[in-house]
Amino acid sequence: MFTQIKQINQDSLAEAKRWLESGESVAFPTETVYGLGGDARRDDSVRKIYEIKGRPSDNPLIVHVHKDFDLSSLVYDERPYAAELRKAFLPGPLTLVYKSRGAVSNLVSCGLDTLAVRVPSHAGAQEFLKFVDMPIAAPSANISKHISPVSAEHVYEDLKGKLPLILDGGRCTGGIESTVCDVTGEYPVVLRTGLVSAEMIAQVTGKCDVYIPKSGERVRSPGMKYKHYAPKCRTRLFSSEQLNEAHEEFLSLQKSGLRVFVLCEESELGAFPEEYVLNLGNTEKEMAANLYELLHKGEKIADVIVAIEPKKKDGVMAGVLNRLTKACAEE
Ligand code: TXA
Ligand code: MG
Repeated sequence: MFTQIKQINQDSLAEAKRWLESGESVAFPTETVYGLGGDARRDDSVRKIYEIKGRPSDNPLIVHVHKDFDLSSLVYDERPYAAELRKAFLPGPLTLVYKSRGAVSNLVSCGLDTLAVRVPSHAGAQEFLKFVDMPIAAPSANISKHISPVSAEHVYEDLKGKLPLILDGGRCTGGIESTVCDVTGEYPVVLRTGLVSAEMIAQVTGKCDVYIPKSGERVRSPGMKYKHYAPKCRTRLFSSEQLNEAHEEFLSLQKSGLRVFVLCEESELGAFPEEYVLNLGNTEKEMAANLYELLHKGEKIADVIVAIEPKKKDGVMAGVLNRLTKACAEE
């Protein structure tokens, strides 16, 4: 199949709609990462998404809708605090998990009785979702376990030949996937950290837990159990206290003839030669926005990325650290 990258306009949107109606997948931009979208109501369309990504069939998908979409057609909205969260953060990088009405294909939630719904704020995503006016099931538009795409080119590199159309909305400004938050219980529970932090949610609802799977327990968000977001090159992760060890490792790998690059926040860069650094930046927003872009760049130029955890660990940085740790995980 021939894969085209097109800017978002009335012609490309009409083409996207035609492809979706024929059961194909179309990639589209959001403020977090690019999504690989298909008609959430159709088994064949949803199955195709799993096939294209090589995604395990027990890892459910998020349904994306435009801001005026009738939520009550998809889910039971049982908790008053969920409306407060929508008012505070949507459209935006917060996915809410509700009790499902069963209006979409069972394959979307892998048989769970819940449904994850997201209303992205990216103008191009809103245009696309409005134009097609259907619930769009969409995981990140990458091969399963690889780094999530933050540009149309990243999608093309992973998925060319497997889908007909990539809608190009430029570089994603958020940079890491949405926060996934369960709103079925008495108070909200964050299942995946992201740009809307648990602290921000608690400010609205008074209380918010962050789910940490205990070993042996059936995971509530199945995607949590997989190695993820990983570059194709080797990685070595050091804590923020291990700057000296990271430096020694850098020198010893370099001595052995490997191309080594260091990924770290700006304030730690000084210890390393300028031409071998991947600069995450200073603020939490910058670090979230730069992480995947730099991992994509790094895997093309490095044999090994030596990564150093940023010092700040809470708020949005919990999401950044979660992605960095999984990107550098052994398996
Ligand atoms: O920012 C994002 O969320 C991006 C863009 C494209 O919207 N999408 C994304 O999708 O990251 P994906 O498939 O890569 O991650 C979806 C996450 C997984 O961790 C999955 O387990 C969880 O959402 N999830 C989906 N449905 C769920 C449900 N019913 N209950 C619990 N977790 C769910
Ligand atoms: Mg993903």
